[in-house]
Amino acid sequence: MNILVTGCAGFIGFHLCLDLISKEKVSLFGIDNLNSYYDIKLKQDRLKILKKKSNNFLFKKIDLINFDKLERFFKKNKFDIVINLAAQAGVRYSLSNPDSYFKSNILGFYNIIELSKKYKIKHFIYASSSSVYGEQKKFPLKEQFDTDKPISFYGATKKSNEILAHSYSKNFKLKTTGIRFFTVYGPYGRPDMALFKFTQKILSSKSIELYNYGKMFRDFTYIDDAIRGINIIIRNTKVKKSRFDIFNIASSKPQTLKKFISIIERNLKIKIKYKLLPLQKGDVVKTHASIKKLKGFRPKISIEKGISNFINWYRLYYKIK
Ligand SMILES: NC(=O)c1ccc[n+]([C@@H]2O[C@H](COP(=O)([O-])OP(=O)(O)OC[C@H]3O[C@@H](n4cnc5c(N)ncnc54)[C@H](O)[C@@H]3O)[C@@H](O)[C@H]2O)c1
Repeated sequence: MNILVTGCAGFIGFHLCLDLISKEKVSLFGIDNLNSYYDIKLKQDRLKILKKKSNNFLFKKIDLINFDKLERFFKKNKFDIVINLAAQAGVRYSLSNPDSYFKSNILGFYNIIELSKKYKIKHFIYASSSSVYGEQKKFPLKEQFDTDKPISFYGATKKSNEILAHSYSKNFKLKTTGIRFFTVYGPYGRPDMALFKFTQKILSSKSIELYNYGKMFRDFTYIDDAIRGINIIIRNTKVKKSRFDIFNIASSKPQTLKKFISIIERNLKIKIKYKLLPLQKGDVVKTHASIKKLKGFRPKISIEKGISNFINWYRLYYKIK
């Protein structure tokens, strides 16, 4: 089975490839534009690990917005499954840089879904986000809830992906599955996300900023659990029943920011200094997903274990004693 993972040098893409690379019967292909949204070295290091691990992995530097180059790659390699994780991520950055989101998440998404249709891919899986739920006040968040009012521009691009996928599934019988990820974290994680930023600042004795005066709840998902969920969706490729589907992938155990910080403090053995600030534009106060829809999905890693794994990795990677 030939699988293409886009955004393979990114956080989730890297871990997914690391998992798929060792699977029998899988020939793995990866693309990424290696953009500089965050430290490129981290992306290159992830790629190095993948290339070292196996020669059953072909990487090509391709930007989703380059239709012709992307099409040549599709033509040359017959993909069975496409997993589209490449996107401009991040809620806050989308307030000041909508352009980048429009290009990668709308134009880029159109290119990859159009080619997936043209080259008769069996299953098109793509990353959506918890941010499509916007300011929903009913919890836990269920896939069938109204998601017509995302708040951030990022959330709006992800909602657009779901709508485009629906149209392709209905009109062209392309099997599509969207994954609404909820705050995924773990080793080799994203430097623009809370756990990474907090750890970095605390270790350099800087204070951290807590929005909404610290009264936030997040449904954190440990990376290995997220990969377990994606694997269930990959295995669903043969299920003909539903051509269009969407699933939450989360731990379904929302944590208060206070608890989150106290676990980091305990791991680093440092008392955190913080500044309390109002809620930021585009941000939501709480996320808490229902994970009942994805049958067989049971997250295993506790927040304590997950944070400890991240901090151990961080110390090793950045050579901090
Ligand atoms: N990490 C999370 O908590 C989270 C939550 C919700 C949704 N998501 C979504 O999951 C996916 C993966 O997220 P991540 O955390 O691994 O982010 P990431 O930024 O680490 O990975 C995305 C990768 O895509 C690449 N990329 C971006 N635009 C591209 C383009 N036009 N062409 C080719 N490559 C491009 C980037 O270089 C990067 O390596 C994204 O679609 C993101 O929006 C992530």
